Amino acid sequence: MPDKSTLEVCLTPGLLPLYPITGKVVVVIDVLRATTTMCVAIDQGADKVIPVETIEECLSYKGKEGYILAGERNGRKVEGFHFGNSPFEFMNGVVKGKTLVLTTTNGTRAIKMAEHSHQVVIGGFLNFSALSKWLISEGRDTLLLCSGWRDKFNLEDTVFAGALIHHIKEYFLVDSDSAFAAEKLYLNSRRNMFHFMKQSSHYRRLAHLGVINDIKYCLRPDLTDVVPVLKNGELVRADIRKDLEGEFFSLNDL
Ligand code: MLT
Repeated sequence: MPDKSTLEVCLTPGLLPLYPITGKVVVVIDVLRATTTMCVAIDQGADKVIPVETIEECLSYKGKEGYILAGERNGRKVEGFHFGNSPFEFMNGVVKGKTLVLTTTNGTRAIKMAEHSHQVVIGGFLNFSALSKWLISEGRDTLLLCSGWRDKFNLEDTVFAGALIHHIKEYFLVDSDSAFAAEKLYLNSRRNMFHFMKQSSHYRRLAHLGVINDIKYCLRPDLTDVVPVLKNGELVRADIRKDLEGEFFSLNDL
């Protein structure tokens, strides 16, 4: 029986230098709202999503045919962008066939920080089961990178990391305090995730901006089966092995 691959959790990007990621899969998690938005955009037919770190880089695409500029700072849409970072802005066909250039406060920065890994993949409650299947089928050493808030810990990303661990740990070697803590946080929140998330600092930020419906949407599991992966600096839809398609499990089964 070959040794199992490892499954670890990095609680904030500030801790990432402590985790060797060469040869590993890195799951970038930014539940509220970047990685949810990325899943929606790919699911809604965007050709690709280009995550960029700065507003200036995003604006450099302005005027290019077929490119949509989107993103936020501190949760608010950036002046001069077509869209902010609400998942609802990327529905109803507006991104179909387009390239979305996205910059956010934490999520796109985390992606750039993990670029030198074997593979960056995007996760959120929206693609929970599809991502779980993909990680199991890849079977590589995997690091769950929580985007946090400006290098500080946040609840929602860690709860999601705990949910992933709880559901796929039998396929991996899990042996770290951060993984143990994340799983316990998930188990302590799963019966009423939305109520639990009201304790999150970003919940309060987004509630102040009047986008509580974004939060409710971002916490809904398995609304899509897309698994966005980073290829040459662009997020595109991963191919899912045929034998892994179909019902696998969902958060509701637990
Ligand atoms: C982030 O990057 O932290 C989030 O995407 C922020 C947000 O969309 O409110």
